[in-house]
Amino acid sequence: MKLWQKEVGNKKEVESFTIGRDPEFDLILAPFDVLGSMAHAQMLSTIGLLTKAENDQLQNGLKAIYFEIEKGQFEIAPGVEDVHSQVEFLLTERFGDVGKKLHSGRSRNDQVLVDLKLYYRAAIRELVEETSILFDLLLKLSEKHKGDLMPGYTHTQLAMPSSFGLWFSSIAEGLSEDLGLLQAAFDLSNKNPLGSAAGYGSSFPLNRTMTTELLGFADLHHNVINAQNSRGKTERTLAFAMSGLAATLNRMAADICVFMNQHFAFVSFPDELTTGSSIMPHKKNPDVFELIRAKTNQIQAIPNTVSLLLTNTTTGYHRDLQLLKEEIFPGLATLKSCLEMSTFMLKSIKIKENILKDPFYKHLFSVEVVNELVLQGIPFRDAYKQVGSDIEKGNFSPDQSKLNHTHEGSIGNLSLDAIEEKMNKAIKSFDFEKMDTAIKLLIN
Ligand code: ARG
Repeated sequence: MKLWQKEVGNKKEVESFTIGRDPEFDLILAPFDVLGSMAHAQMLSTIGLLTKAENDQLQNGLKAIYFEIEKGQFEIAPGVEDVHSQVEFLLTERFGDVGKKLHSGRSRNDQVLVDLKLYYRAAIRELVEETSILFDLLLKLSEKHKGDLMPGYTHTQLAMPSSFGLWFSSIAEGLSEDLGLLQAAFDLSNKNPLGSAAGYGSSFPLNRTMTTELLGFADLHHNVINAQNSRGKTERTLAFAMSGLAATLNRMAADICVFMNQHFAFVSFPDELTTGSSIMPHKKNPDVFELIRAKTNQIQAIPNTVSLLLTNTTTGYHRDLQLLKEEIFPGLATLKSCLEMSTFMLKSIKIKENILKDPFYKHLFSVEVVNELVLQGIPFRDAYKQVGSDIEKGNFSPDQSKLNHTHEGSIGNLSLDAIEEKMNKAIKSFDFEKMDTAIKLLIN
């Protein structure tokens, strides 16, 4: 049975093809669908389309469904097309005609849109929280290991001295910058599309400002066509933001896989965090970081799929948009688990000390020696030549404990306070409080 069913039903083949994986993903949208309906019903009661009694009945009914969802007691019954239909059927089953009144001035097009935006807001919040937890740990590790030197590479070749402090805080600062894209995605998710109906508004005098306030949105998509067109745009922006965070984690995981290699042995983890081999008894494999590397690569493919899904779709709703869920929803869950696992693993990371004391790494100090000569008054190009020729002749033996990096963001001056400040500023730019207060008010 469908909300829109006339005399003739769909052929089974068409039904299962068009519904696809929606019931699975719509379950995730269920609590947000209820919240959207609560705001819509309240608004309808202020413009004479529902009486106060009808609104009260709907609010209580919706609240009950919300708590059933929270307790895991909600399901989309077989044969029911989507979450929007399921909630409406439940209300009608329980309260009769008033359930059928709820959909006035609304289409599933703006209904699913508002559900999605509410879900994205909540999911972005979780990502920000997990990113912030990982960030704090990285800064702590950076401070703890600021004196532990390691090689820095360019072209995967030994380049200059680096340190674990520098490496850890590079990931931390990267994460703080990734939040900039996520802020753009939050901004798009934090605009109310409700009231755009099928994408062309309604002849009812809907109060869209009211539902914007009730749902704690920062603003609304004013133009109803633009509101509809924001489906896809929001996902594309979110996909790029997810991709940014994923790229930062990807690089970290790729580094760790190499650092764990026996030729390097720069870092290690307790045995219970590594995996073994079924045939080679000595193995301690970095499977967790390999999978973080792989999963974050999968996430970086999402913007491409999302962009292609939107290619050549004209103004207005298209069923194509439904498939965005299949890309974004699992991607959000995967990204969250990659953030969580990164934190989980890094809590136990062990660092090899005194790596650079080994003469094997002496060439890393070539620039240090050049710079010393420059400070003694030798022009840089001459100093460079002199050290180059010493290296060629095998006469190069620098002091491998002498380093004097003092400028901002260097080994000797990690600027961790400034990086922390940058993160705090990024986090403050998300107004989670407004959405929280509004949702609490709706549900209580
Ligand atoms: N499952 C649909 C989607 O995600 C819901 C909207 C259906 N609207 C429609 N006009 N068929 O897009």
